[in-house]
Amino acid sequence: GKVAVMMGGKSSEREVSLMSGNGVLAALKSRGVDAHAFDPADKPLSALKDEGFARVFIALHGPFGEDGTLQGALETLHIPYTGCGVMASAIGMDKWRTKLLWQGAGLPIPAFEMLDENSDFAAVEARLGLPLFVKPATEGSSIGVIKVKQAGDLEAAYREAQKFDPLVLAEQFIGGGEYTCAIIDGEAYPTIKIEPATEFYDYQAKYFRDDTVYRCPSGLDEVTEAQARALCQKAFRVLGGRGWGRVDFLMDEAGGIYLLEVNTAPGMTSHSLVPMAARVQGLSYEDLCVQILAAAHV
Ligand code: DAL
Ligand code: MG
Repeated sequence: GKVAVMMGGKSSEREVSLMSGNGVLAALKSRGVDAHAFDPADKPLSALKDEGFARVFIALHGPFGEDGTLQGALETLHIPYTGCGVMASAIGMDKWRTKLLWQGAGLPIPAFEMLDENSDFAAVEARLGLPLFVKPATEGSSIGVIKVKQAGDLEAAYREAQKFDPLVLAEQFIGGGEYTCAIIDGEAYPTIKIEPATEFYDYQAKYFRDDTVYRCPSGLDEVTEAQARALCQKAFRVLGGRGWGRVDFLMDEAGGIYLLEVNTAPGMTSHSLVPMAARVQGLSYEDLCVQILAAAHV
């Protein structure tokens, strides 16, 4: 039957989602799937039923697409959809609750603290050390993320991040490199090392700059690679993840692994990481899209 590739939406990752969705749409069509674009910013979800869609490929990022709300609506409409269910999507969209869950499961994460109006910013800087990262809890694509390098700058960074989400966290800097691991149908794919030419892997570095270096295979030694994949797989399972997703992590200089966050509807743009790992695993972009769609469920 007809497949809706849901893209766009109203989160601040709308533009990224359109890039992801158009890529997925073209790939599915090239494989003979009767796929059509569906932007929930244009029409109500009930249009999925009215227009006869049998399945949904979710290529939405951020709140109202990746956070469980859409997933819950699709459950009640009995329309199978790709990726994580309600709970994993909701927790995964929230970096604070994700950290609490992983911490509770004994998985390694960087030290962090939640910030609010009453925070003693100087004390947080002293406890976490500088540099440190300030992040809105429920954004993606590094939107609103600030690297604080100078003592005294944390409060201003908090005020900036807080424009995106009242929930803001400060996170310890881990300096041994940024990595990510795609999980597809429960399997952890080869890790990718990201070497941004910018201060960190920010929005520009993610989608627009051509000087971000990606290494896949990542160059981790065999033992560490296996450890990292197992850890990311476990992190996804602890969250209740299903279908596909991507777990981001950092390494320290001593080879320690620190889980950062999970993306339950990861980017599928031409610059994106899951397609890159799939390619290394021998799975083309088109095959990847077909495989993700095949696992759609209610
Ligand atoms: N949040 C973006 C889309 C990603 O993780 O790929
Ligand atoms: Mg994210």
